[in-house]
Amino acid sequence: MGTTPPDNPRKLRSQDWFREPTYYGFARRAWLRSEGFNADVFDGKPVIGIANSWSELNNCNAHLRQVAEAVKRGVWAAGGFPLEFPTISLGEMLMRPTAMLFRNLMAMDVEESIRANPLDGVVLLCGCDKTTPAMLMGAASADVPSILVPGGPMLSGQWRDRQLGAGTDGRKLFDLFRTGRLTEEEWCEIEGSIARSAGHCTVMGTASTMTNLAEALGMTLPGCAAIPAPDSRRLATAESSGRRIVEMVREDLRPSRIMTARAFENAITVDMALGGSTNAVVHLVAIAGRLGIPLPLEDFDRISRRTPYLANIKPSGQYLMEDFFRAGALPALMREILDLLAGEAITVNGRTVAENSAQAPCWDRDVIRARDNPLHPEGGTVILGGNLAPDGAVLKQTAASPHLLSHRGPALVFENIREMRARIDDPDLPVTPASVLVMKNCGPKGAPGFPEWGHIPMPRVLLDRGVDDMVRISDARMSGTSFGTVVLHVAPESAAGGPLAIVRTGDEIVLDVPNRRVELNITAEEMARRLGQFAPPPPAYDRGYGKLFLDHVTQANLGCDFDFLRAVGKP
Ligand code: FES
Repeated sequence: MGTTPPDNPRKLRSQDWFREPTYYGFARRAWLRSEGFNADVFDGKPVIGIANSWSELNNCNAHLRQVAEAVKRGVWAAGGFPLEFPTISLGEMLMRPTAMLFRNLMAMDVEESIRANPLDGVVLLCGCDKTTPAMLMGAASADVPSILVPGGPMLSGQWRDRQLGAGTDGRKLFDLFRTGRLTEEEWCEIEGSIARSAGHCTVMGTASTMTNLAEALGMTLPGCAAIPAPDSRRLATAESSGRRIVEMVREDLRPSRIMTARAFENAITVDMALGGSTNAVVHLVAIAGRLGIPLPLEDFDRISRRTPYLANIKPSGQYLMEDFFRAGALPALMREILDLLAGEAITVNGRTVAENSAQAPCWDRDVIRARDNPLHPEGGTVILGGNLAPDGAVLKQTAASPHLLSHRGPALVFENIREMRARIDDPDLPVTPASVLVMKNCGPKGAPGFPEWGHIPMPRVLLDRGVDDMVRISDARMSGTSFGTVVLHVAPESAAGGPLAIVRTGDEIVLDVPNRRVELNITAEEMARRLGQFAPPPPAYDRGYGKLFLDHVTQANLGCDFDFLRAVGKP
């Protein structure tokens, strides 16, 4: 892999703006100097954009201004010229109907901000779930040298004598609260102690998964993803990233040279060993699509079958991201599975995956299991087919109940989330532990926006009987912090006329995870008859970004990117 600088220094992209021998070259320099810069910033220094998704509307990214300052130190020290700019920020907790509705909008913002401005290299600051894939999608399409610096996970939650993982434990405790086993006072205490700092959720949810997969793709410095947000080493790594991007510009080390087909295989393999969020499937497919790299769902299942699950982190395991960091973080995990990885893949530091991880130490073998002592012999996420999901569905087997992985039972159907919410706590709900809850109209077009509604709450009547899991199926996504025997991302979705749309209460559903099937047990004739009667729901938007989304979003198996944003002329 060549990362050697060319013999002749490459002309910098920014020089097209600042060295243009017209009035506009002068004007661009003069107007930028109004910010107080000296003329020597234009003497050939690489201009480094710092794409900052800081926002007070996104607590996970609320510390990124400080991270940006550390990046700037590094850029100046290496002879670059840093210019920070804002992107929209997608806060998982506050945005309605779902931050996922806006992932593609943020990716367009990042891409066009890079393309439109005099930038030679970019440092991407992100953290909360969708901000990482959006940054990578935009940077992939712009294809200017880029390095990613995530903000890192928040501190572990601490309530009384219990350590709490944001997301996962909150959901479990909420079930105790709604069934009267926690008082209002205790619930308020938990509210104040579960999320103790800036930074993203501290379990292996979507944020931790995607920042670690960015590292596995080679887009961060090694060991960067797991450093806790308030840890001083977060800022030191940010400074190193600022230094490194200046060198990357000189080496012309672009995203397309790092995020290759082999790098995506590495990311999927790491995802399986991490027990990563099911959302990783959608995001990796979307990022790869920007580079013209096809990632069929079958690849995820093929890799899942050969990859052991090793990271003992909630929601599938026991520990939190702080524990993963002190145990050696991603380099230690990658060392365990190095024979399953493309070790020659290049990363942003100019070294290969093998060079970065071959000697990485592990300091806690219960957090990062040895290869011969896995938590599960296969990876976390499995891909299902079958007549209920002709274009695929996903299930996180490591967060599911083993006794439900082969199951058949009668469907209890909710036509949409409103019906589910209205009925789920009904003491007369006709449900048994064998029932299969089915929820429709929660997919990319149906919800719309593909929200994380797939973790349908357990019916109260079953919780009261001590039943804490059952098979649940929808075309929604699920938070990576969630758990349970939950089939997600059913494609095609019900609002697009997929077979999920025609399931009726009482139909038998068969879940067969060992054989990767989810089936609606009706005859082919009956299925054809019902599908012939399908009528799509009325569109939720008739103008604006919502209409753009409805008109152009692709289905889950294609990454839910807009059709016109995928690489042109490539698969
Ligand atoms: Fe931002 Fe969980 S809410 S990562």
